[in-house]
Formats: sequence, C-alpha cells, structure tokens
Amino acid sequence: MAKSARTVPEDWYPGTIPSNVKIDDTAYIETAYSFSRCRSQILPEAVTIGYGTSAYLGTMFDIAPTGRVNVGKYVLLNGVWIICDHEVIIGDYTLCSWNVVIMDTYQAPESSSQRRMMLQQISQRSPRNLEAMNPGKPVHIGNNVWLGFEVCILPGVHIGEGAIVGARSVVQDNVEPYTIVAGNPARRIKRLDPIEPIT
Ligand SMILES: CC(C)(COP(=O)(O)OP(=O)(O)OC[C@H]1O[C@@H](n2cnc3c(N)ncnc32)[C@H](O)[C@@H]1OP(=O)(O)O)[C@@H](O)C(=O)NCCC(=O)NCCS
Repeated sequence: MAKSARTVPEDWYPGTIPSNVKIDDTAYIETAYSFSRCRSQILPEAVTIGYGTSAYLGTMFDIAPTGRVNVGKYVLLNGVWIICDHEVIIGDYTLCSWNVVIMDTYQAPESSSQRRMMLQQISQRSPRNLEAMNPGKPVHIGNNVWLGFEVCILPGVHIGEGAIVGARSVVQDNVEPYTIVAGNPARRIKRLDPIEPIT
C-alpha cells in the first residue's frame, strides 16, 4: 500500500497514515504510530474512523493485507490493540478502556513444529510481522458497549448493544444485548434495562 503524506500534527512518530485509512475530520488520533502495523491492501477504505471518535496512545491497528476495520462515531479507544485478518466492527458510542485486545484471528498454529517454521520465516523478512494463516472470524461489537480494562475479545465474538464486559474478562462466546458479563471465560452476571434507542 502506497503511503500518503498524512501525518498527525506535533507527532513524536515520524511515520504517516496509509491512504486507505479514512478518518473523520472530527476524530482525534494521538499518533500515526497507531497505523504502523496497518498492512491492509483493501481499497479504497481498509479502516474507517467515525465522527467524534478518539484513539489514544497504545491503540494499534494491526491489520493484515486482507483485513478491514470499521470504528463508529463517538468511540473511545484508550490504548486498544485491534488484530484483524478479516473484519472488526466497533459500534457507535462504545467505550474501550485501557489495554483491551480485540482479535479476529489467532495468527499462529497449534502445531509446535509449524510454529517453529513460522518463527524461522518471520526472522527472514522485514518487518517481522505475523501474517494471516487462516481466514479470520469477524468480530462485531455493537453500539453503546463498554469494555472494561484489559478485556480480551476472541475471534468470531459478537457483542450485543449496550452490553458491559467486566475488567480483565476473556470473551469467547457471543454476548447478549444489555447484559453484563465477566470472568474467564466471561459469563453473564447481570441483565440491564434496555435504554431508549439513541439517534
Ligand atoms: C463489570 C462491572 C461493571 C460489574 O460491576 P457490578 O455490577 O457492580 O458487579 P458486582 O460487583 O455486583 O459483581 C457481581 C458478580 O460479578 C463478579 N465480577 C464483577 N466484575 C468482575 C470481573 N471483572 N471479573 C470477574 N468477576 C467479576 C463479582 O465477583 C460478583 O460475583 P458474585 O456474585 O459471585 O459475588 C465491574 O466489576 C467492572 O469490571 N468494571 C470495569 C471498570 C473499568 O474497567 N473501568 C475502566 C475505566 S473506563
């Protein structure tokens, strides 16, 4: 992917934002370093970031050539690692606390001999990235969701509107709308009252 000349004003990182990343004018990106692992070849838009959204230091769009990420409006990404081989969608008004990991792929095989081969191959290329091995399983996070700090969302998970995920939870199953889940693996601990739809 050809790099554009887009930079972030007063950025400590000298790199640029790829041309297939579409950022709304009202969104805040702390540093272009967040896109230093964005290798998506999807055109014209591999990443979209919506109105009023903020992505703070530590947020990484670690996107394979086949990956696409859509972040809605008024989303807060407070140092979130998004690992995407296929598709990650984050809905409007979703709050992601610090050190959340959202992944649609594991990127490494179970077989230790295959992993050894993979690690040898990585040492031969630059940059030394893990790359997509299998099609990722899309992750969809609904509107008005709150992910507590250090939450891990595993491949294929769909999180319903208005759900809350407790701090340090590992989510491997879908989460129903307006529920609170917590733990490893995350289990429902509470139901919430649905709110009026937000326009
Ligand atoms: C998920 C959360 C909102 C739930 O709060 P709550 O509704 O007050 O829940 P409670 O404290 O009543 O706990 C209910 C049960 O869930 C368990 N639980 C709550 N949070 C948990 C967590 N993160 N991991 C594992 N279990 C958890 C409690 O131990 C309790 O279990 P019990 O019924 O067996 O005693 C809160 O625990 C949490 O994790 N908040 C995250 C805050 C955060 O990340 N802030 C970052 C700044 S944006």
